[in-house]
Amino acid sequence: MATIIVDNKEITVENGALLIEELLKNGIEIPHFCYHPALGKDGNCRMCMVEIEGKKRPQIACDTPITEGMIIRTKGEKIQKVKRQILEMELINHPIDCPICDQAGECSLQNYYMDVGLYENRLSTPKTHGKKNIDIGANVVLDQERCVLCTRCVRFTKDITKTKELGVLNRTDHSVISIFPGRPLSNPYAMNVVDLCPVGALTSKDFRFHKRVWFLEPAEAICNGCSKGCSIYVDHHKAKYEDDSIFRYRPRFNDQINGYFICDVGRLSYKVENKNRESVAKIRGKESEYEYASGKLLRLLKRHQGKILFLISPSLSLEEMAQVKKLSIKYGAKLSGYDICEYDKTFGDDYLKCNDLSTNRRGLNLLDIDESELGESVENIDLAVLIGRDDIETIKNYEQIEVKVLVHPSMPKDNDIYNLYLPMLTHTSRQGSFINIDGYLQFSKSNVEYAKETQSLLQIISILLNDNATTCKEIWDESLNKIIKNIHFEDIQKRSVKMDES
Ligand code: SF4
Ligand code: SF4
Ligand code: FES
Repeated sequence: MATIIVDNKEITVENGALLIEELLKNGIEIPHFCYHPALGKDGNCRMCMVEIEGKKRPQIACDTPITEGMIIRTKGEKIQKVKRQILEMELINHPIDCPICDQAGECSLQNYYMDVGLYENRLSTPKTHGKKNIDIGANVVLDQERCVLCTRCVRFTKDITKTKELGVLNRTDHSVISIFPGRPLSNPYAMNVVDLCPVGALTSKDFRFHKRVWFLEPAEAICNGCSKGCSIYVDHHKAKYEDDSIFRYRPRFNDQINGYFICDVGRLSYKVENKNRESVAKIRGKESEYEYASGKLLRLLKRHQGKILFLISPSLSLEEMAQVKKLSIKYGAKLSGYDICEYDKTFGDDYLKCNDLSTNRRGLNLLDIDESELGESVENIDLAVLIGRDDIETIKNYEQIEVKVLVHPSMPKDNDIYNLYLPMLTHTSRQGSFINIDGYLQFSKSNVEYAKETQSLLQIISILLNDNATTCKEIWDESLNKIIKNIHFEDIQKRSVKMDES
């Protein structure tokens, strides 16, 4: 460790580490474009200048290793003047289109300009214009004249995806970011360049112009696209007289699971959450009152006691699995997590994406829920209740199962096969804990609200069990803490925890 003085305040930092990293860790604001913790330094933007005692000129903090006793100034007239000059240069050819730019509200250039910009224009020659609205691949649009040439996007495709679709073309003020001919930016992680771009040069085709970012409310969740369970933010907004809608998913930094990035499939999977929000229950294909339908399910369980199969999705949360298990014990039912639909051997790669598309298969194992093929074990079953999954194919062949019930967020594909359909809230509207493929336990906090009458699975089960445990905390206290002894519910509220280490 080393002790240094920053703006007259003593702080203890890691000796030899990059100055910018330690300053940012300590909450000291250092403007920067080209440095990014996942991509490292590049030293091209010069925005991170600081004064270091003993050095004649200001130095860039992203390429300065820390030494014991350094005295640093990040504020003051001298350093402001340097930043102002750098910003003036960045803005010489920058268009004045902040009011129509999709990055407004989360643009570093706009923020720095408001802090230290030189507000008078000293330019007497016309601006050099770049091309706007260039389609560079499946999900991203490029505006060349908004670019500050920080090369984060180029380094992402070079160092992270190693697909190298982007480069800097031409020289001086004709330099622009571009894809190479015939190589669109269509790799499975392409949309991360939108988050990396500090300005509005790279925007998402899907999100741009749909919502101003200051209206959005971020909720901490985990992606349910595959068993990696990447940490995400769910950016949602409830407009007057409308349901709360999700506008985008963004990566949430998690050094144990996904770092700073997520895949495009996971990022765009929010659409399913907005679409599959059923609120109408059905009995034999006809609409029914929600309460009546859930009462009917209770009566069915009582009538078929001992001859029931609960077929659950391996993507339910630990809390939900624990409660269904309790329900299966109460009604003498068989409980199975058998599910072949949740595998796609073409999906995975050697970075984040996994072939197992379920979010909590390890949860099934932890709670000792059988996931082997159903085979003859369902011969005496009269009532099958599918929870969180709509794959009727699995039980279609068992003719003796006379009553089939579906509890799921979206309307069944095979409407008339189910005797009863009860909607439940979607993934981002239900809180819960999940164990990812590598054994990390995380808690998804998002509970986006919609259709008041639709209940969460925990609420539905509490009615069927006739008990009051509907919150995750109550279920942890009641049953999960007996199995997961060394991890407290409060721990996973803060960060993911590796199960094997505990
Ligand atoms: S497009 Fe964005 S990320 Fe890429 S170099 Fe320009 S400003 Fe940087
Ligand atoms: S890798 Fe899996 S969990 Fe991560 S964002 Fe993609 S689909 Fe979601
Ligand atoms: S962040 Fe240091 S030079 Fe760009």
